Amino acid sequence: MGHAPASAEPAVLIAQMTDIHIGFEPQAEGEELNLTRFRATLERVIHGPNRPDMLVLSGDITDHGDAESFATTVEALRDCPFPVLPMVGNHDCRPGLLGAFPQIEPAEGGFLHYVVEAGLGLRVICLDTLEDGRHGGAFCEARADWLAARRAEAPDNPTLIFMHHPPVVAGIDWMDPAPHEPWMERLREALAGQHQVQAIHCGHLHRPIITQFAGIPLGVTPSVAPLVAMDLTPIDQDAPDDRELITTEPPTYALHRWDGQSLVSHYERVGDWQVLARFHAGLQPMIRGMFAERE
Ligand SMILES: [Fe+2]
Ligand SMILES: [Fe+2]
Repeated sequence: MGHAPASAEPAVLIAQMTDIHIGFEPQAEGEELNLTRFRATLERVIHGPNRPDMLVLSGDITDHGDAESFATTVEALRDCPFPVLPMVGNHDCRPGLLGAFPQIEPAEGGFLHYVVEAGLGLRVICLDTLEDGRHGGAFCEARADWLAARRAEAPDNPTLIFMHHPPVVAGIDWMDPAPHEPWMERLREALAGQHQVQAIHCGHLHRPIITQFAGIPLGVTPSVAPLVAMDLTPIDQDAPDDRELITTEPPTYALHRWDGQSLVSHYERVGDWQVLARFHAGLQPMIRGMFAERE
């Protein structure tokens, strides 16, 4: 009998769904597409093999911030067996989110940001980047002070930041901020030269993106709602060119896995896939061969 090396250690799993946009089509006949996509994604996260310890909803939960859309969201989450961490995006509004999730305690200044201890020493900071009436993000002095205070509470703890708006120019012209917007530069200064923040995970762009910000890995999780089309050519706002803007690429969620040492992020598209191989006795030699290499 060969020695069987230990399989993966227990880890903390943080699911992230973003940009659900419930209420985009309030007049839809039958169930609106965004709600169908949300239910399918939830079904996979709740009943799939990787049940998370918590679920972050990183903003644009609703399309108009109205109470009814938030209520629909809460109703869809009713059987969720793990804690839900809701955040505001530019399509939401703080009173709407608070009405639906009264457990959230606003921080000073009314911002809806907070800290959660995720387990195995990982701190999660959910940062509010909403500026009412604006599509793009915000990170004002008050928020910089709040973030500095939260980081100072546990300077040696590995920390994961969620924020709706990615503070980067991604090349999707119509969705992008201007280069070096003041709020982005303020955030860059706030995070410069530190080793506490393991990663920043965002939403808003409706596309998967990986980059770096202030030396920190930064990911954008694609939307649950329809995706933004993959077109990196410059756009002329005065010349409609019939380019693709929004597509029905499948809904996607992220699963961030923290094992006490490192943070690894997975993305799963939720679709009607076929399973082409399963772990049955016939494939056991292959699986065993892979484990043998780990010795
Ligand atoms: Fe969005
Ligand atoms: Fe957004």
